[in-house]
Amino acid sequence: MMEHDIQEVLFSQEQLDRRVSELAEQINRDYADKEILLVSVLRGSFIFMADLARKITRPCRIDFMSVSSYGKGTSSSGQVQITKDLSEDISGLHVIVIEDILDSGNTLSYLLRILEQRHPASIRLCTLLDKPDRRKVEVAVHYSGFTIPDAFVVGYGLDYAERYRNLPYIGILKPEVYS
Ligand code: IMP
Ligand code: MG
Repeated sequence: MMEHDIQEVLFSQEQLDRRVSELAEQINRDYADKEILLVSVLRGSFIFMADLARKITRPCRIDFMSVSSYGKGTSSSGQVQITKDLSEDISGLHVIVIEDILDSGNTLSYLLRILEQRHPASIRLCTLLDKPDRRKVEVAVHYSGFTIPDAFVVGYGLDYAERYRNLPYIGILKPEVYS
């Protein structure tokens, strides 16, 4: 049972739903007269993206991109690689990058740098979770769901070694599972 590997539930389904609604309201207000391109960073943000997108009431395009970060471990290397690029050109579009979690900042600072070179009309970052204690590279965040302590979390899209993504809540993984 996946539940047995969870030390503590950090955010329940209800808490996630409420916070995602608030983020969507903020985005709806900020982009009232603009068409949005949501860029989901795979795979961790797929559930957050799906929930957020359904609460956005503005005209909205969707695209996906994948970058390598962790492999099977629990900390990133600083070496980031695009493993799947966007399907469409982003020049002139109002881009919001959707991430599951901002940790060291390595992945997102690299990704934002790459995307900025493609001349979007604007680019902002929306992350569900933020672990500021672990930051190594500064990244500007416009929309952030929850700030969390330095613990390894899974569920609602987030994995450990590709497991637990389907948990409907976010929980702290018991350290004995990965040590
Ligand atoms: P960063 O490059 O260190 O900021 O790493 C960001 C990526 O690492 C996220 O998109 C996640 O895929 C992964 N990650 C960081 N912390 C966690 C965690 O606590 N649980 C699951 N994945 C994590
Ligand atoms: Mg990720």
